[in-house]
Amino acid sequence: MFAVRGSKTIESVAFHLCERLRTFRTNFVRIKHTKRIVLGIETSCDDTGCAVVDDSGKILGESIHSQTQVHLEMGGIMPPLARELHEENINNVVSEALQNANLSIDEVDAVAVTTKPGLKSSLFVGTNFGKQLCLKSGKPFIPIHHMQAHALTARMIHEVEFPFLVLLISGGHCLLSVAQSPVNFLLLGYSLNDAPGEALDKTARRLMLRHIPELRNFCGGEAVERAAAKGNPEAIHITVPLLQYRDCNFSFAGLKQAAYQHIVYQEKKCGIAGGALIPDAYDLCASFLHTITVHLCQRVQRAMMFVKMNNLIPTSKQTLVVSGGVACNNYIRRGLDIVATHMDYKLVVPPPKLCTDNGVMVAWNGIEKLRVQSDIVTPAELDSISVEQRSLIGEDLTQSVSDAFIKVKWVKLNKLYKDNSTTQEKESSVNSIIK
Ligand code: KG4
Ligand code: ZN
Repeated sequence: MFAVRGSKTIESVAFHLCERLRTFRTNFVRIKHTKRIVLGIETSCDDTGCAVVDDSGKILGESIHSQTQVHLEMGGIMPPLARELHEENINNVVSEALQNANLSIDEVDAVAVTTKPGLKSSLFVGTNFGKQLCLKSGKPFIPIHHMQAHALTARMIHEVEFPFLVLLISGGHCLLSVAQSPVNFLLLGYSLNDAPGEALDKTARRLMLRHIPELRNFCGGEAVERAAAKGNPEAIHITVPLLQYRDCNFSFAGLKQAAYQHIVYQEKKCGIAGGALIPDAYDLCASFLHTITVHLCQRVQRAMMFVKMNNLIPTSKQTLVVSGGVACNNYIRRGLDIVATHMDYKLVVPPPKLCTDNGVMVAWNGIEKLRVQSDIVTPAELDSISVEQRSLIGEDLTQSVSDAFIKVKWVKLNKLYKDNSTTQEKESSVNSIIK
């Protein structure tokens, strides 16, 4: 506070006022700049995403262009088409995210870009665009691992401390990992063949769920989930994969094959020519989704036991994070919640919008890396950046998990469909757990 004494002239009061104003402005600018801001770009598969996020986890601006519908019509992801669409849209998507944030590129602290793993031609588009942005603006570039970004998103909105267990389930990946820090991960298990989203998408296509009007605009996984809600999970027996292997790896190709065989059998039996739906399509979806859920839950339960045996996570803060597009599935979440409760874990699932691919998770991973000052690449070092189609999330412990040969008494999952509550009641109970 300052006081105007009798002897002071109007000029000296004005001078003091100006000084105060200048100090305030300097402090304000300093406060503003202690908040780090990162622009994130995601183009690893079929979504062109961009977001501007600050270090409190606030999304300042975002934009996404999804290619899902185009690829759905083509019957699967076409890499050359995906690249073309990324190239067509990236400029607009990045400009829109900055505009929504009301910021220019000069006002962000760094540009984070997914550089691995993913479709090489798609990764190139985002990476080259990010490099150009950094060259023009002089901002640092932060290379991001797509799966690490999925894993860390939960920390943006929930109190999740390192280390934590994370299950990532999407259209391209399936893995179990312990996240120890923003840049240190242990790999406990991965899929030996298809990813769960891939198996769901292909089965939905083979079943021709798109011919059901209310399902035609949904991706395969969501179409199966909706169809499954009308079917009986006990109607068709599908063997749970890898029961005899005491590790934490996954397999979805056999499940997909079993579903295909059932479809062919029914088509022959009912004399159905291509294009028509088999009569028990809903039952098949319910049985298929239930078996996928049991398989995921079994591998997670064993991983929790491995974590305990090796003291990888303190018992006082056991958390399971589930992310990736398939984590949007309510039936799978409920199954995982049963396992988590049984094993004394807290289950954390980001909201569906942040489970699927987006620019926010990349920007947030950039913030996490800025905080620990890791992987910050200056514009002069940009030539060292390349894209990688395949990349493990971290140190490979899968052999140690297999060697541990852990026998598990499985938690019962039939209450997933045996209780009397309606689907809606079940959904809201899960939402209340995870939000
Ligand atoms: O993470 P994401 O957006 O992209 C990849 O990195 O793959 O995941 C997309 C996958 C697709 O396979 C899609 O069918 C699946 O997530 N998915 C779902 C659901 N919503 C999206 N799977 C099961 N149930 C859902 N509700
Ligand atoms: Zn993804």
